Amino acid sequence: MTDQKTIVIGVTGCIGAYKACELVRCLQKRGHRVKVVMTEHATKFVDPVTFRALTHEKVAIDLFDDPIDPIHHISLGQEADVFVVAPCTANMLAKMAHGMADDLLSTTALATTAPILVAPAMNVHMYENPITQDNIASLKARGVHFVEPGDGYLACGDVGKGRLADPEDIADAVEALLFAQRDMEGKKVLITAGPTVEPIDPVRYISNHSSGKMGYAIAEAAAKRGAEVTLVSGPVQVPAPAGVEVVNILTACDMLSAVDERFDTCDVAIFSAAVADKRPAAPADHKLKKGVDDAALDAIQLVTNPDILATMGAKKDGQLVIGFAAETNDVVANGHKKLVSKNADMIVANQVGGGKAFGTDDNEAWFLTAEGDAQLPAMPKTELADKIIDFVAEHL
Ligand code: CTP
Repeated sequence: MTDQKTIVIGVTGCIGAYKACELVRCLQKRGHRVKVVMTEHATKFVDPVTFRALTHEKVAIDLFDDPIDPIHHISLGQEADVFVVAPCTANMLAKMAHGMADDLLSTTALATTAPILVAPAMNVHMYENPITQDNIASLKARGVHFVEPGDGYLACGDVGKGRLADPEDIADAVEALLFAQRDMEGKKVLITAGPTVEPIDPVRYISNHSSGKMGYAIAEAAAKRGAEVTLVSGPVQVPAPAGVEVVNILTACDMLSAVDERFDTCDVAIFSAAVADKRPAAPADHKLKKGVDDAALDAIQLVTNPDILATMGAKKDGQLVIGFAAETNDVVANGHKKLVSKNADMIVANQVGGGKAFGTDDNEAWFLTAEGDAQLPAMPKTELADKIIDFVAEHL
């Protein structure tokens, strides 16, 4: 088979190592070639002969044990279409998160340019330890993929999260990486997200409840499908998606400048930010104190912020422009008004208020275009983000 993929599995020393044998079989049944790298500790749980027999390939353990290929850690990493670490101990996670390379497996993980998939397995307290969680977050931020461990009765007698995921689920995750859609390759996507913050004085401001989750989910979906993504974002608590350039701003005027600088060269611009409509006309340069500055506080003058979507809609030249409409009533009619007034190619309209949309994970939306409307069922923001990128990919 010419398009056969090579999966390199790194096996570390924990009781779940025996399940890596099943993972090898799952991947082979799906037509893939599998090679195994083990740590020394892993060999205490499963004899390398077992993996040798299953894979018909030499099992790599030592950095220096291959006389034919003295830079085995590089060649193994290059051969991999996906590099999987399953099971991955807390120790290996820590080494990978900090770029340590003191054995063949950790060195291969550092050297490979293939997508990396990690399936952690350990005691529940080790898994929940903030140090381990920080290491996982840091690896995720660098684009490492994870299959979460399962909940249940652990080998040590504790009950909780830490069991190696089911081998079939790990194999599914491997294939999701192998066959990921790359239909946004070579496209530049510009996204606004989060709230803007408009200063009244050095300590007070006008802002809103936008969580940024929608914009960040769109950025992640586009990047996963190969796009070059820039996210112009107000302050949010959501971590930046891997591989996405984030431009942090505070005010609507700063957001406009950051977008304007990048708009001409983008293919798609998606405006999901909740831009404050008004800003204080003249922010004070010192803290306005009650009793002293009451007159100034009582008379804060507001001016209208630029409409970033409308400004870009007016000057678009081949870019696909998508806006959002957050409405408490007449969602479709109000969304259509924005489609026209802001010269957008599509408006994603959703109902807000009563706990809907702001800060939640689920979104119910309409896709409104001049050609027609589509109502989507309620779905997580991550799925809606993929649907938006489906629309983009079809219309570019
Ligand atoms: N938008 C923008 N700049 C603004 C205001 C809004 O880019 N100053 C964008 C938003 O990112 C969104 C769309 O315009 O994509 C609609 O935003 P929304 O707040 O729903 O509408 P408004 O234009 O503020 O209108 P209204 O307050 O009447 O709902």
